[in-house]
Amino acid sequence: MNQLSVDHLLGIKDLNENDIHLIFKTADNFKDVINRPIKKVPSLRDITVANLFFENSTRTKLSFEIAEKRLSADILNFAASSSSVTKGETLIDTVNNILAMKVDMVVMRHPNPGAAVFLSKNINAKIINAGDGAHEHPSQALLDAYSIREKYGEVAGKKVVIVGDILHSRVALSNIFCLQKLGAEVMVCGPTTLIPKYIAALGVKVENNLIKALQWCDIANMLRIQLERQDIKYFPSLREYIMLYGVNKKILDSLDKEITIMHPGPINRGVEITSDVADSGQSIILNQVENGVAIRMAILYLLAGKIITN
Ligand code: CP
Repeated sequence: MNQLSVDHLLGIKDLNENDIHLIFKTADNFKDVINRPIKKVPSLRDITVANLFFENSTRTKLSFEIAEKRLSADILNFAASSSSVTKGETLIDTVNNILAMKVDMVVMRHPNPGAAVFLSKNINAKIINAGDGAHEHPSQALLDAYSIREKYGEVAGKKVVIVGDILHSRVALSNIFCLQKLGAEVMVCGPTTLIPKYIAALGVKVENNLIKALQWCDIANMLRIQLERQDIKYFPSLREYIMLYGVNKKILDSLDKEITIMHPGPINRGVEITSDVADSGQSIILNQVENGVAIRMAILYLLAGKIITN
């Protein structure tokens, strides 16, 4: 199959294993393109993409924007903080006004879970979810799994632990779906208060002891504590969290094997990982960012193909 089974990228939950392998194979080709002296291809010429960010972003926003430019798309950039949303305009009115300008695809980050699904049911454009609240962040999970495949040759059979604030993380849920569809074993690790009760029902292992989790895994994906989403205190102090769940070089060196460190960013250096871990040879954090462009080019290209065939 050279077509996705979905018309929008709303979450990894909707994708099948073939979709993920197709995105990876397409990203392999685009990775070659972006390493050439001439990094641009005409694949999305005459396609207009609106990047709608109702929540802050550095990596995802810039990565989609450069991916669209590399594919020769026309681009509209929208940030809620400087828009008429601040005057009370609704999501659907905002998007319909943007679509009246003849937009074909929408990349949207929104604080509310389900916002991308809502758009896909109410407007006539291809929707890419760039993160909806604590629900899903599909392009992040795809670039994470792609980076594991790049490092190890395949994702199947790998043991991946996701450490930290699982409760407030869209990256965790999308990673769990993506890694399991590709045949990896997944564990979550953190304080009980930051691990949702339902998580074991998804077939993941749960571990509260960081050292045991690191001894079990091949790869540790370290998450940021999302203080901006925390309405109550989930642990006594940041100092205690760092003591129990922060990874430093001494801990890595004490393991009887070399594990790979990942992080979706933004990093809180000195909290979930120290600088000597983030910047070490065991870290593939900047490879993840580099791979994000090729993965997002693949997503845009494959969904744009569906505009033409639908
Ligand atoms: N990983 C990620 O989503 O980062 P941004 O919030 O900077 O986009």
